[in-house]
Amino acid sequence: MTDLVPPPFKSKLHGKVAIVTGGASGIGEATARHFINHGARAVVIADVLDEKGRNVAVSICSDRCAYIHCDVSDEDQVKSLVELTVSKYGRLDIMFSNAGIPSSDGQTVLDMDMSKLDKVYAINARGMAACVKHAARAMKEGGVRGRIICTASVLATRGFWASTDYVMAKHAVVGLVRSASLQLAGDGIRVNSVSPGMVGTPLTMMRWGLKDEEEMEKMVEKFSMLKGMLREKHVADAVTFLASDESEFVTGLDLAVDGGFIARQP
Ligand SMILES: NC(=O)c1ccc[n+]([C@@H]2O[C@H](COP(=O)([O-])OP(=O)(O)OC[C@H]3O[C@@H](n4cnc5c(N)ncnc54)[C@H](O)[C@@H]3O)[C@@H](O)[C@H]2O)c1
Repeated sequence: MTDLVPPPFKSKLHGKVAIVTGGASGIGEATARHFINHGARAVVIADVLDEKGRNVAVSICSDRCAYIHCDVSDEDQVKSLVELTVSKYGRLDIMFSNAGIPSSDGQTVLDMDMSKLDKVYAINARGMAACVKHAARAMKEGGVRGRIICTASVLATRGFWASTDYVMAKHAVVGLVRSASLQLAGDGIRVNSVSPGMVGTPLTMMRWGLKDEEEMEKMVEKFSMLKGMLREKHVADAVTFLASDESEFVTGLDLAVDGGFIARQP
């Protein structure tokens, strides 16, 4: 009788080098942790919240996680983020372009404040384009079959009663992902997005003036067909899938992580 030998353990992101923009908080922070837990060799957190970003990097793993200041609305800063990462770690395998800001109150089309629209666009759409551009250039130059994932939203594919600037910018992200996926497929670089529904975070609690977790769960559940609350971890799981070889033949996809919210809408 032969002994059963377990297959060798290989973590999903073994040896990979990743950048996570907006990694000082929320979905980005959770995903940076996930990447390290799944075997990434190095994760660079890029954000504008320097103290928070540095603390998060240290708390995840001071040996394999670094913080670099980067305002994604400034293309030069994005270019230098990618260059610093490649010079420090030798390559770039994964770009998680996630940094984003919400809309100000209102922003219906009749009351649209154009300077606020410009700000949301500069970070949520133009910033994503700069991250995809410079990550793809570094991957192509390095001969790396890279993976790029952008954070869109369930509001990237439908209209909404308010937050028109946010909805417009998130639609642009899906257009960016679809075009980039075609243009980069020949180089073996995959480009996808995740579209979270409403995520139960401390920020969500604060923004909606909810008093505790129970109240937040009730509110967030209304935006999901599944019972329970959508958390950062659920989004991080989907991003990790798209960053790993498990999604080897997936590109140009906008993956909803929304508990069925989009499916129930006509
Ligand atoms: N939370 C939700 O319910 C939800 C739903 C759908 C989509 N999203 C999207 O998910 C992404 C992450 O949001 P979150 O909920 O984790 O929010 P968050 O505020 O916790 O995290 C966003 C991070 O982006 C950083 N950031 C903001 N402007 C930046 C800039 N110019 N350059 C670099 N970093 C910048 C912030 O400092 C912050 O650390 C965003 O793109 C958001 O639009 C969130």
